[in-house]
Amino acid sequence: MTPVDLELLAALRTPEGAAALAAAAEVSGADPLAAAARLRARGVPPPLAAAALTQAELRRRAAAKFGAAAATMFFTRAGLEQATRAVVADRRAARLRAAGVTTLTDLGCGLGADTLAAARAGIHVYAVDADPLTAALAAANAAAAGLDGLVTVACASATTVDLAGADAVFADPARRTGRGRAMNPDSWSPPWDFVAGLPARVPRTVLKLAPGIDHALLPPGAEGEWVSVDGDLVEAAFWCGPLAAVPRRATVLRGAEPVTLTGSGSAAAAVGPVGPYLYDPDPAVVRAHLVAEFAAGIGGRLADPRIAYIYTDDPVDTPLGRRLAVTDVLPFSLKRLRTLLRERGVGRLEIRKRGSALEPERLRQDLRLSGPNAASLVLTRIADAPTALLCAAR
Ligand SMILES: C[S@@+](CC[C@H](N)C(=O)[O-])C[C@H]1O[C@@H](n2cnc3c(N)ncnc32)[C@H](O)[C@@H]1O
Repeated sequence: MTPVDLELLAALRTPEGAAALAAAAEVSGADPLAAAARLRARGVPPPLAAAALTQAELRRRAAAKFGAAAATMFFTRAGLEQATRAVVADRRAARLRAAGVTTLTDLGCGLGADTLAAARAGIHVYAVDADPLTAALAAANAAAAGLDGLVTVACASATTVDLAGADAVFADPARRTGRGRAMNPDSWSPPWDFVAGLPARVPRTVLKLAPGIDHALLPPGAEGEWVSVDGDLVEAAFWCGPLAAVPRRATVLRGAEPVTLTGSGSAAAAVGPVGPYLYDPDPAVVRAHLVAEFAAGIGGRLADPRIAYIYTDDPVDTPLGRRLAVTDVLPFSLKRLRTLLRERGVGRLEIRKRGSALEPERLRQDLRLSGPNAASLVLTRIADAPTALLCAAR
């Protein structure tokens, strides 16, 4: 892949570049050498051809995050990886707009996913990124979306931005280092002490953070929201000052209608026996510490107060977790499990676990599955006893 630079980005935004991008989109996905040869055969100079092919490939990948809009956007690989999915950014922007935000300062805007969503919601955005190429991508993307009237992009360090009089602030610090995801907030950029100080300077602050963020880092009175998309936990957002509505929120985006669950984040769930129906809550519910609220909502209980599996006596439909029908409950024993699965003719087994140190793939091999049937297996712990729950296949 030929990384784009400022010069190539400028070239891609000329009419000649647009033609190269259109030609690259047609051949994208083909053998890279053949694709480059086809572009050169059309008279596209080699550096522009290589840059256009890289963009075409990134645009193809970006469709998963941005849908059809990806086809006119400009990317770097890192910028795309770090960008917020449009479905998440649009929800956040709509909530900001509904809260009366009309201008937003986006500190560390990346290639502009959150900036563009805010602008689409009618919010004026002052977007800042410390990296010159990334800032240029954000500006190019605002222009490509016809939103440049609402978006001003500057290349600067967030730490130097004058926030006096700012209406609202959004910050999504970079969490990657050369070694991958940085889990320590002090190694984020801008660093955590700067980010954590923002709500004191601008009350209407929203922070986008890694979903594994410690609840103890929530600023006093702020709302912690955990968001999942199609079952994948994608982010935490801290809504500060007057933007906070509840202590904790889980937002589950699956299908057309988002589902939210709210609560204190510190409630205790009812505890009782294993029941015929088991629910594996969505990861946003678990990370938001809303398992008790989820259990109460379906009239369920935990079998072990420390393990987030919920049980009911009757089946309850819920978009906030996966329901399984429990057929057998047994103390964990490889031998007994193997015998049971053989009796049931189980050749395909989905394995879930909470509170178990077993490695599912290793166990799958040890079980030597064979037979025409499918089932789900849940490995857990109940009152400190390793327990296996065999469930009907979903
Ligand atoms: C996680 S990305 C933002 C992604 C963006 N919200 C989006 O969805 O496209 C973080 C960005 O912060 C920028 N950045 C890092 N340190 C910065 C600083 N001190 N000032 C301004 N920008 C910074 C990085 O260049 C990177 O583009």
